[in-house]
Amino acid sequence: MNATASSADSAPAAAGPDLAALRVAVIGAGNMGGPVARTMLAAGVRPEHLQIANTSAESSRRAAEELGATAADSRDEALANADVVVLGVKPYQVLDLAAELQAQLPAGAVVISLAAGITLAQLEQALPEGSPVVRAMPNTPISVGEGAVGLMRGGAVTDQQHRLVHALFACAGVAVDITEEQVHAFIGAAGSLAGFAFAIIEAMTEEAVRQGLQRDLADSLVQQTMRGAATMLLESGVHPAVAKAGVCSPGGTTAEGYAAFEREGVRAGLAATMAAAAQKSRDMTRD
Ligand SMILES: NC(=O)c1ccc[n+]([C@@H]2O[C@H](COP(=O)([O-])OP(=O)(O)OC[C@H]3O[C@@H](n4cnc5c(N)ncnc54)[C@H](OP(=O)(O)O)[C@@H]3O)[C@@H](O)[C@H]2O)c1
Repeated sequence: MNATASSADSAPAAAGPDLAALRVAVIGAGNMGGPVARTMLAAGVRPEHLQIANTSAESSRRAAEELGATAADSRDEALANADVVVLGVKPYQVLDLAAELQAQLPAGAVVISLAAGITLAQLEQALPEGSPVVRAMPNTPISVGEGAVGLMRGGAVTDQQHRLVHALFACAGVAVDITEEQVHAFIGAAGSLAGFAFAIIEAMTEEAVRQGLQRDLADSLVQQTMRGAATMLLESGVHPAVAKAGVCSPGGTTAEGYAAFEREGVRAGLAATMAAAAQKSRDMTRD
């Protein structure tokens, strides 16, 4: 994937766009819109400038309280003077929402859609002509600064607006520019991968318990070891196959376990899991 990391792409926060003055409206702060709001706050957007509008005032209030942002009384209030509008609703809702924004969207506001399978062309057609639109494909670990987000840039987005969007995701973990063709592979490798990682960690923890460990000890051993393995690779740049060979002593426990890993088809199962997510993304885009 020929992607560009935001750290290499955008100036450091101090020299970058002034996020403290920026006004952001998040329309739909749910499972994904919430973490996106959280990472934007971490990047420097002020809580009083980040307005949440969900389906009801009560839902907006609950989400805003949890995120440390501001609940809007209405969508109109959230949109008034917004410089950036995040569309965090479900994919089947996003084009209707975009069409409804025709009359409400402040001129020049950058629209960031989180919706899987809805293309830049579809969004640009639904929004006022010439709207700057970015598709963002995040995963939930962005809420702890250890996630990934793939950014797809619409035709009307200026270089300055592109830098602004990267600055908003500067605390997400890694933010990379991808194409709409790459987004399917990105979903397998990052967007949906967080869910697969949770499932893998859960399965490993259950086996550790079956082997006799207390559940809380199993939780911390598995989670810490998975995090440590990823951190070692990230920090050293060593290829995972080389790192694996380094811990497989001849006739040892890891080599024996690894033989079962291959025999039981774990590698093929993981590949099929990621391929299924990528294919679903392609199918959703064709619909
Ligand atoms: N979940 C993921 O891991 C993930 C990853 C990448 C991308 N995405 C994308 O993120 C988007 C949201 O998915 P999600 O999982 O976060 O869904 P979700 O948890 O159901 O959140 C959707 C949010 O949209 C709000 N909403 C619905 N209709 C609205 C309307 N007309 N006006 C204002 N707010 C409205 C809901 O408000 P209420 O709370 O009041 O109902 C809810 O807060 C999707 O497009 C999905 O493709 C999700």
